[in-house]
Amino acid sequence: MQKANFSFYTNTLLDGGVVALPTETVYGLACLALNADAVDKVFRLKGRPASNPLIVHVLDLDQANGLSYPDEMCSLLSKRFWPGPLTLILPKKKVVPDNVTAGLDTVAIRSPSHPLFRKVLQLTGEPLAAPSANPYSKVSPTSAEEVITSFGNTCPPVLDGGKSEIGLESTVLDLSCQTPTILRPGPISKTEVEKVIGREVLNPNETIETGSPSKSPGLSVKHYAPETPVRLYPSLKELLSLAPSSSENLILIPSKKSLPLFDSYSAAVMYFSETGDPVEIGRNLYTSLHKGDLLKKKIIHIPLIEKTGGIVEAINDRLRRASTI
Ligand code: TXA
Ligand code: MG
Repeated sequence: MQKANFSFYTNTLLDGGVVALPTETVYGLACLALNADAVDKVFRLKGRPASNPLIVHVLDLDQANGLSYPDEMCSLLSKRFWPGPLTLILPKKKVVPDNVTAGLDTVAIRSPSHPLFRKVLQLTGEPLAAPSANPYSKVSPTSAEEVITSFGNTCPPVLDGGKSEIGLESTVLDLSCQTPTILRPGPISKTEVEKVIGREVLNPNETIETGSPSKSPGLSVKHYAPETPVRLYPSLKELLSLAPSSSENLILIPSKKSLPLFDSYSAAVMYFSETGDPVEIGRNLYTSLHKGDLLKKKIIHIPLIEKTGGIVEAINDRLRRASTI
């Protein structure tokens, strides 16, 4: 890992290279968004299909203006939620290379709040394209160590900014369609968005426009998956009655408080949080999946979070995408 030497990271980016940077959501694999060759490098390193567009990270709405045509809703939302975990899909300007947007006429933009990412944005003076810093379809990294583990000897330089505070990817909100639509649930909920724009917002499966192949090309169902198969249960109660207790299994539960229920199990048991607080579960979700994977068990058994509101929808969305059996 490189030391926090900002000129090294800035110069690598300005030379058309790729570096991993911390954000408040997950780590990103960053390059100059307006340099198509650098963007190609990110796609190759990640093993990501060219049909899946990247998010462009900006300092503020002014910088977003250079890349897209923001509307009134964008102004209201960016004022309220930027810098922060909200990505807005907007009509794109020609200056954005086609490979960034996978040929779409829209571009995804967000302004991250992590101070180290913002410092690099300031020093380069350029918008930075950055998908999550994991090989395609694998679990997103929330620490520098996880970036290094998941890329092994193809790992680019990683700027260590500690553990990502939120731990789940940003909410992706499409403002380019008739009715604003959440394409990826995240830390900022549909209700919070509706309050700010004073309009109804649709969920991913409620898209009313037809005819377009897929509004969110990156949202393949199998995603965010560890190597070990994940089996999901609708509740802790169902997991208790159905999951095998033998030692080749790993059971991952929301709260440490439920540990005594598994006293008689030979299976390994891990928990996402001390208290069951959804914010804490969100922060630890990917790290727990990374750690669980390292145990090399036959199956990881996980119950959905039995709460509603806030970040719970995003957590359960990621768990569904991680489950493979
Ligand atoms: O929190 C985050 O958003 C992190 C950090 C690094 O900022 N980034 C991230 O990027 O999660 P990525 O590439 O892993 O996910 C971007 C998502 C994908 O599902 C992609 O398909 C979608 O955003 N996306 C990007 N551009 C789009 C567009 N023009 N229209 C619809 N969806 C788009
Ligand atoms: Mg990703």
